[in-house]
Amino acid sequence: MNKRTLPIIIGNWKTTPATLQDALKFVKQLEAKCKTSKIKLPKKSYYLATPDIFIPYLSDVCKLGFIGSQNVSGLSLGQITGATIPSQLLSGGADFTIIGHSEVRARGETAEERSHKLALALQSKMTTIFCVGEKTRDKEGEYLGELEADVKESLSLVTRSLFDNLIIAYEPVWAIGGKTPATPQECFEVVIALRRALANIAGIDYAKKVHVLYGGTVTDDNARTFIDEGGVDGLLIGRASQDINEFSRIIKNCHAK
Ligand code: PGA
Repeated sequence: MNKRTLPIIIGNWKTTPATLQDALKFVKQLEAKCKTSKIKLPKKSYYLATPDIFIPYLSDVCKLGFIGSQNVSGLSLGQITGATIPSQLLSGGADFTIIGHSEVRARGETAEERSHKLALALQSKMTTIFCVGEKTRDKEGEYLGELEADVKESLSLVTRSLFDNLIIAYEPVWAIGGKTPATPQECFEVVIALRRALANIAGIDYAKKVHVLYGGTVTDDNARTFIDEGGVDGLLIGRASQDINEFSRIIKNCHAK
């Protein structure tokens, strides 16, 4: 796992773009923009979670970033129709997977399913981005307890030695796909609660070093504030990652000293 000093910038492409040709064009342009960047970027400066079918093709042309999946099956090898398991993604060129995105949860993913996905992905040594976030907030702050319980339940099958490849993304559902992101302050409070929950489950050392990301209406204008003031180590970005100019600006801004 990277040291926490490097921001992790992940684009979540969802069901875009429409064709493999468009996806290849995007990654080639992004590589060129990273290569010629005036701001010094690390050897690998971006992550893109793409439709699974594109992964082998994109991983061939992606040299300065990582290509991954938006979801994975937690059912092991066998007779299951329409599911892709971590070892298959890895052997097809994926570097990482997202698990527990709110749009996947909304389609019926249960906590039990999520716990199997997380265990299988981490057992396969796959870098795993686990999303968690409240649907709404209450003044009393009960949502914080619900988030902590979600983390505990979802990670219940993961043994301590497997936590190294886990990254947490705080994604408040109310901020995803909308106009209003969380404020950096709102984000900061949750980051602390998540680290506390992780300390209880996986120990204080892991809780100190785990990367925590923020996602939900991240734009070129607000990206940096989450890193500078929101206490996060990176971002999970939907719409703004689907625009080559905006995504490359975010990558550069977030890596600028
Ligand atoms: P958004 O999506 O940046 O378009 O709000 C974030 C996400 O779904 O991860």
